[in-house]
Amino acid sequence: MEKNFSRTLVTAALPYANGGVHIGHLAGVYVPADIYVRYLRLKGREVLFICGSDEHGVPVTIRARKEGCTPQEVVDRYHTLIRDSFAGFGISFDAYGRTTSETHRKLASDFFRTLYDKGEFVEKESEQYYDEEAKTFLADRYITGECPHCHAEGAYGDQCEKCGTALSPTELINPQSAVSGSTPVLRRTKHWYLPLDKHQQWLEPWITEEHKEWRPNVMGQCKSWFDIGLQPRAVSRDLDWGIPVPVEGAEGKVLYVWFDAPIGYISNTKEILPDSWETWWKSPDTRLIHFIGKDNIVFHCIVFPAMLKAEGSYILPDNVPANEFLNLEDKKISTSRNWAVWLDEYLRDFPGKQDVLRYVLTANAPETKDNNFTWKDFQARNNNELVAVYGNFVNRALQLTQKYYEGRVPAAGEYTADDEATLSEFVSIQQALEEKLENFHFREAQKEALNLARIGNRYLADSEPWKLIKTDPERVKTILNISLQIVANLAIAFEPFLPFSSEKLRQMLNVSKEDLKWDRLGSRQLLAEGHQLAKPELLFEKIEDAVVEAQVQKLIDMEKANAEANYRAADVKADIAFDDFEKLDLRVGTVLACERVPKADKLLKFSIADGLNNRTIVSGIAQHYKPEDLVGKQVIFIANLPPRKLRGIESQGMILSAVDFNGNLSVATIDREVKPGSQVQ
Ligand code: MF3
Ligand code: ZN
Repeated sequence: MEKNFSRTLVTAALPYANGGVHIGHLAGVYVPADIYVRYLRLKGREVLFICGSDEHGVPVTIRARKEGCTPQEVVDRYHTLIRDSFAGFGISFDAYGRTTSETHRKLASDFFRTLYDKGEFVEKESEQYYDEEAKTFLADRYITGECPHCHAEGAYGDQCEKCGTALSPTELINPQSAVSGSTPVLRRTKHWYLPLDKHQQWLEPWITEEHKEWRPNVMGQCKSWFDIGLQPRAVSRDLDWGIPVPVEGAEGKVLYVWFDAPIGYISNTKEILPDSWETWWKSPDTRLIHFIGKDNIVFHCIVFPAMLKAEGSYILPDNVPANEFLNLEDKKISTSRNWAVWLDEYLRDFPGKQDVLRYVLTANAPETKDNNFTWKDFQARNNNELVAVYGNFVNRALQLTQKYYEGRVPAAGEYTADDEATLSEFVSIQQALEEKLENFHFREAQKEALNLARIGNRYLADSEPWKLIKTDPERVKTILNISLQIVANLAIAFEPFLPFSSEKLRQMLNVSKEDLKWDRLGSRQLLAEGHQLAKPELLFEKIEDAVVEAQVQKLIDMEKANAEANYRAADVKADIAFDDFEKLDLRVGTVLACERVPKADKLLKFSIADGLNNRTIVSGIAQHYKPEDLVGKQVIFIANLPPRKLRGIESQGMILSAVDFNGNLSVATIDREVKPGSQVQ
């Protein structure tokens, strides 16, 4: 931080109120933001932490249609669910508002109007897809089709999720309405555009020269946008869910969700501070920090700053610490496939263990690259780090104090050289932590805090008070005094990361937050001689194999149930000529032998009686059958495909099988035995 700011305004991305929040949200945005804010508060800085629900946009209306209810009902339900989930994890927002509030509607509307009046928009008519059945224009996620880049099916009108490319609906191949399934037609419509191309002039040097300190992943994305050249971006949509465009002749048009949502940061501030919100948003000595996930970078680094600058009276963000993505058990987290650990479910399944998840997500935070969450790692970090290092040290120090001194802090005598060495190891902890926290290196910072517990464990193991108590009881008093001082330091050091555990620890130490202020971190005199401690309890508990195995099974079951519930037969392919079918030579063969192909986990090698010379066919069904179960079966195969080499084996044909909704394969067999080589017609 080169500039001297007098207050910090921290925002965390407003989650869409069209579903719950999962560990990916927590790891990417809300835990790091909360650690940072808690730290600033502990430092005594003036800080405000703003979030809320993003309640407009196409995903909300799609969800409403799916569930057969109104968009308002959808956002009411999820707003509450999300707000409570965050509260459950101790995410300490000062404001958690909603973009359907009256304050927001007015502020966003006025914001648009100001830009409109200043001539900051370009008005343009263009051809856009229109669904004649549903009588609605199709923007963003309302339209799907084939990706023009990677040719994946089901790409959205604003983005292909397969290859990540940003798209516009007219680029899609074979576009389809996500509302009615019909093929849309082009119609003329008018929209307002923010001319980002003009803003590039100041945006580019502002980011690449004045903010060289931004994270490399953030800088990299911004630079690649600049290299391609910024394009004007439409900030209105033809939709009936959203904030009406406050301009004459704009009936049926609303503000684009990415125009209104970031303004939500401002309106949510205004809701709680109706008189002083402008100090937070307009005074140049406020430092504005946006915590977001990587899919939000362009909006927070380019679009929103351009809006703020165009308006003219607002400050710009000073940093945008965006995280990469968190995968789950080696697969992309997906709401639509229900491959996620939902926060409300975690809170139900692991009551009182919020800090364990906070800890694991920070230890494994996707700060510089995508990262992976596994339940095994969750268990290992809990058992080997929280229980075995932090909890174990605290427990030993407190139990021994209980046993020898009825829970009273013993007086320290003269320090030995070993004592001095240990004490000097933790005086620097405050500085080390602060340096990392100030620079948004949260995983490194948390490591520093855990290191303090390692120091304590080593000190106890080396000094062995449980042995000395017989021979040198005076010495034990000093050892436990020092150990208890380390315990108290741990309560301070972990406060930003594991607030629930620090609270629990303070109760065991019988001290208040006031007694353990951040600026005393590193002190060797946090607990006075003779101070009475409360009864010790375990700070963390071991998590057994069965518990995490059940969670993995739950994931698999949920994904499967979801796939089954959403199953819809695929669309029928384009017609073929009858001749085309007749060219296919389909036959029945009897399986004479079947075996696994070495070093290929998907392939089985069949020897097939075909009524002629018999043949070998290699088929990718090894994950669905035991080879011996197929011997003797009569299967259907394509007899006239050119031979193909698979793992060095020549495959002479293809065995037909059905693909179930979950990807399972089922071999096509026949109903009554026939001669091998019989034709199928
Ligand atoms: N709702 C968006 C998402 O979940 C984030 C909006 S952030 C805001 O990706 F800045 F627009 F509020
Ligand atoms: Zn693609």
